[in-house]
Amino acid sequence: MKIYIGSDHGGFAYKQTLMKHLTAKGHEITDVGCDSLASCDYPDFALPVAKAVAEKKAEVGILICGTGIGMSIAANKVKGVRASLCGDVFSAKATRAHNDSNVLCMGARVIGEGLMLEIADAYLATTFEGDRHVKRLNKIADIENI
Ligand code: RB5
Repeated sequence: MKIYIGSDHGGFAYKQTLMKHLTAKGHEITDVGCDSLASCDYPDFALPVAKAVAEKKAEVGILICGTGIGMSIAANKVKGVRASLCGDVFSAKATRAHNDSNVLCMGARVIGEGLMLEIADAYLATTFEGDRHVKRLNKIADIENI
């Protein structure tokens, strides 16, 4: 899959591990930064990832900060983005299947690296179920237009 990925300093080390893992699995990764452990601001990386997804340059975005919360708040400001903060595998599958989530957010200070990889794999392997969930997503899209 084409995946845009970003982190702040809090998620930088986890992002390096995840990129290695996803590249080895054959995914095409674009890293928008950050590039070091130096303190930086998560919205600066949430925006390019969310925009790439909204503009269909990426099928999926992945954002990692300390908690994943700031990244998810910022990414969900971009129209067409359905960013989901996940800390377990069940939620990762459910948010793809039911919410057609297109950006996965995770908190490096919250979950272990092994769980992060399992969450990412589960998220990427799951597809939207459509059906009754479509009308609910349309209602979310209506909210964006208020
Ligand atoms: C950075 O210290 C931290 O606030 C950030 O990584 C994230 O947790 C924000 O939601």
